[in-house]
Amino acid sequence: MSSTILGSKMPALFQGISFGADPFGFLAKQHQQFGAVFKIKLPGDPGRVVLCDPEDIKKVFELSPSDTQSHDLPVHFNFGQQFILFQDGATHTEGRRFLSPPLQERRLSKYGDFMLQETSELIDSLEIGAVTPFVPLLDHLALSIISRCIFGAVESEKRARLHFLINRWADKTFSVPLFMSAMLFSGFKVRKFLDKHARQSTTKYGDSQKQSLFIWKELANIKAEIEDIIRMDIDFCRKHPEIDRGDVLANLARAKYEDGSHMDTQTLIDQIFGMSIAGYHTTSITTSWLLRDILTYPEVFKKMSEECQTVFGNDRTDSSKIPQLRYIQAVIQESMRLTPITPVVARTIAKPMVLGGYTLPAGTHIWPCVSEVQRDPTIWEKPECFQPERFIGTKHSIAEYFPWGGGRKRHAGLTGRL
Ligand code: HEM
Repeated sequence: MSSTILGSKMPALFQGISFGADPFGFLAKQHQQFGAVFKIKLPGDPGRVVLCDPEDIKKVFELSPSDTQSHDLPVHFNFGQQFILFQDGATHTEGRRFLSPPLQERRLSKYGDFMLQETSELIDSLEIGAVTPFVPLLDHLALSIISRCIFGAVESEKRARLHFLINRWADKTFSVPLFMSAMLFSGFKVRKFLDKHARQSTTKYGDSQKQSLFIWKELANIKAEIEDIIRMDIDFCRKHPEIDRGDVLANLARAKYEDGSHMDTQTLIDQIFGMSIAGYHTTSITTSWLLRDILTYPEVFKKMSEECQTVFGNDRTDSSKIPQLRYIQAVIQESMRLTPITPVVARTIAKPMVLGGYTLPAGTHIWPCVSEVQRDPTIWEKPECFQPERFIGTKHSIAEYFPWGGGRKRHAGLTGRL
């Protein structure tokens, strides 16, 4: 075995462009060429070690807080520097302890019926025989759920404003020009630049209607306005503890550390903003792939409908019955196996570690590769085939199936029993 980890010899700029254009395809090619451990280098980035062997990934997911450290992710999304996704080690453990209770299934279960009702209304609005693009519909559904469950917004004006702002922020941030700029000049630099402009923006609630020729100015104004909405709401919730809202923002605004103090307001704004973005396209894209799969396999759709009929009968409003939908859960799991939302999850080790036969120094950035492991033919029989039954009666380890990530940083939102 070579003593240095192999990887593409292409300059970082070309690796960045190839990765930016097709992250899943680029990683698959590198895996095929260099094996289960390889290196990639993006512009302005110290380099990443990609892991495709579940044995190595298991070790990474089992690391304790003192074995990992926070680091600047090479992404340009300016969620807010203190968002939990950017944290690791002891800071992450403390943040997660604070954030987890309000996100628990039990605390949010009162929104289950609302989600079911919104989804039923969306289905009822579809016309048989009409061509309907999924993504905008599912974007709308995800935003309805976010504005209600995270922001507690019931008034139609506030909901419409949040829909507009979050949608516009995501559209601009994930647009090709910005994504490619991040790949060319480095995600860190683009994020810092966007952050600087957002801090300088003096936009207040209702201001950022006008569009700008300069994408970063518009993004800065949108971010400033969303932050303004969150700040006003945190103040309101803390001043009026008697109003029982139960949404994530209200729960977090009132939550206290053991010493009786609240989370500092800017840190909380970063968490709420981060969650609303982390939960938006992740949900709508995951459900879009799911619908694509269901419509591609009519026999799967038929079994799902039969299960729905058996469990719900004609009354589809009781969300407490959802856990009984075992086949439907397997369909979702299979769809997320083949089309996970992210090809990798990120960690940085704080101590030297042996992975794949290589001794990696402290500070190495590691990417356990979701997309390659979930299509590994040594783990999955006929990995390219859509077979939900493979999830019935079989348990896969977290290092073999991790569309929600793994270990202490596993996705913090609701995953139900998936
Ligand atoms: C289908 C929808 C979603 C998918 C597939 C998804 C997937 C993921 C993944 C892969 C991670 C990284 C985990 C890791 O590094 O090990 C993550 C983290 C996270 N997700 Fe989600 N997510 C979804 C929706 C949401 C929603 C709706 C919320 C908020 C309400 C949310 C909140 C978070 C947070 C806060 C983290 C950071 C966890 C940490 O670093 O400790 N996600 N998610």
